[in-house]
Amino acid sequence: MLRIERMTAARIDAVAALEQSCFVHPWSRQSLEDTISGKNAVFFAALEDGEVIGYAGMEVIVDEAYVFNIAVDERYRRRGTGYALVRELITYGKKYGLCFITLEVRESNVPAMSLYEKLGFIKVGERKEYYSDPTESAVLMTKYF
Ligand SMILES: CC(C)(COP(=O)(O)OP(=O)(O)OC[C@H]1O[C@@H](n2cnc3c(N)ncnc32)[C@H](O)[C@@H]1OP(=O)(O)O)[C@@H](O)C(=O)NCCC(=O)NCCS
Repeated sequence: MLRIERMTAARIDAVAALEQSCFVHPWSRQSLEDTISGKNAVFFAALEDGEVIGYAGMEVIVDEAYVFNIAVDERYRRRGTGYALVRELITYGKKYGLCFITLEVRESNVPAMSLYEKLGFIKVGERKEYYSDPTESAVLMTKYF
């Protein structure tokens, strides 16, 4: 059964492995550790039978939140895990009176954009050629509260 819980240091190895399998430019274990332990970081892990199958995190600055990343293990996609993780970020945002949560996404990343739209994020801008390998623009999406 799927469970979402607040990230702990004990999960960092599993998150680093997930990063490696999901992204062209994965975060290193050290960057993850530094970021997750940051005082403004809010990270959640998705667990299936105790195993990390996804994660999502954002940085909260006063009443604004900037998403660092979200990923779900390829073997577990299309089962509502990404939705549950982003919903958890939104629940946190509502609970702590944030004004918005914002993020960047590759313009070709239809699955992620569909997920964000489903949860009320809207397109608010674009960053030309923001990503490399391949070079691609970023779409900026924001959920306002
Ligand atoms: C984006 C990602 C996190 C979605 O995770 P997921 O667990 O598969 O998503 P869910 O099953 O919760 O899907 C929720 C909604 O997202 C959208 N969605 C998810 N995958 C999709 C796909 N392949 N195509 C189109 N829409 C998709 C749909 O609207 C879906 O709702 P539905 O199932 O009722 O149609 C996952 O594909 C992933 O890890 N991708 C690689 C990493 C990445 O791109 N991260 C985002 C960086 S900005």
